[in-house]
Amino acid sequence: MFLRNSWYVAAADQEIGRKPMRRVILGEPVVFYRLEDGTPVALEDRCAHRHLPLSMGRLVGDQLQCHYHGLRYDRSGVCVRVPGQDMIPPSARVKSYPVVERHHWLWIWMGDPALADPDRITDYHWLDDPAWGAKTEYLHVKANWQLIVDNLLDLTHLAFVHETTIGNSALVEHATVKVQRSHENVVVTRWIVDQPAPPTFVKVGGFTGNVDRWQIIDFTPPAFLRLDVGATPTGTGAPEGTRVSGISMRNLNAITPETESTSHYFWGQAHDFDIHNRATTEKVVEQIRTAFLEDVAVFEAQQVNLALVPDPPQTDINADTGVIQARRILDRLHQEEQAAAARRVAAE
Ligand code: FES
Ligand SMILES: [Fe+2]
Repeated sequence: MFLRNSWYVAAADQEIGRKPMRRVILGEPVVFYRLEDGTPVALEDRCAHRHLPLSMGRLVGDQLQCHYHGLRYDRSGVCVRVPGQDMIPPSARVKSYPVVERHHWLWIWMGDPALADPDRITDYHWLDDPAWGAKTEYLHVKANWQLIVDNLLDLTHLAFVHETTIGNSALVEHATVKVQRSHENVVVTRWIVDQPAPPTFVKVGGFTGNVDRWQIIDFTPPAFLRLDVGATPTGTGAPEGTRVSGISMRNLNAITPETESTSHYFWGQAHDFDIHNRATTEKVVEQIRTAFLEDVAVFEAQQVNLALVPDPPQTDINADTGVIQARRILDRLHQEEQAAAARRVAAE
């Protein structure tokens, strides 16, 4: 199940250059490159002639030339040259996709281009905000995108999967949890008060005693999860809204389905302490990367089982409240999109 009428992160901005790059998104092959003036372009990565990926070709000025028989396409996907003939068949064109560069990521719109409004891009300003230190990363995951969404909405798993970094048992046994849902948003707020800090927080925050720790997970469909996380020495007022002498971070996730069983996992970490020190940023990112690789092992093992028995019955527990709310929103949006598509077909 994919939601098409949405912006997705397609790439990190520095991945796109004058060498065409292929990436499959929502099951569609897409080729990315930059025009001579730096403008990013995304076209269907399948030549209209005999289906060779255009990403195997090369740029001639601002035109993309297919590697096989040399058809050339302009930035809108229209074929502008067929070697050895003057007439260009009108069917010689490939799909082009709206793209926008924002917050060090290249965003792509996979649905109806008429609906592609850049104002609807989810805010990830922490990634290029001078008030924060930040870095982005990418993981390729052999699992369905919704398994990653589920993972980030239920952070009780930190106590079991990430006990060497960001987890400890206090996260499950001593958390107060609140789940708020609106039309297109779920917020899970977790407070762990007067408990030991997990290893990563001791390392990067230098805590020596108990802390008040927060995890505020903001989900926006289809798969944007922005986590406000941090801790302060216990009793300094964080649960009441005063964050002093501690650390605050944003764990920023944007998951893009590649196929039904594989995903592009774009993520970044921003921190509000020692913001100009690249070594600090690296240290923080390295901790989170260690944890995320542990998650990837979980997703991929789940996916293997789901491939053996698709859609098996499953048991829900209290910790799944946020997951269930998010799934409801996704199911509703999917039904709405399917119904709108059916109406369009009927009207045609
Ligand atoms: S397959 Fe592209 S030109 Fe023939
Ligand atoms: Fe995790």
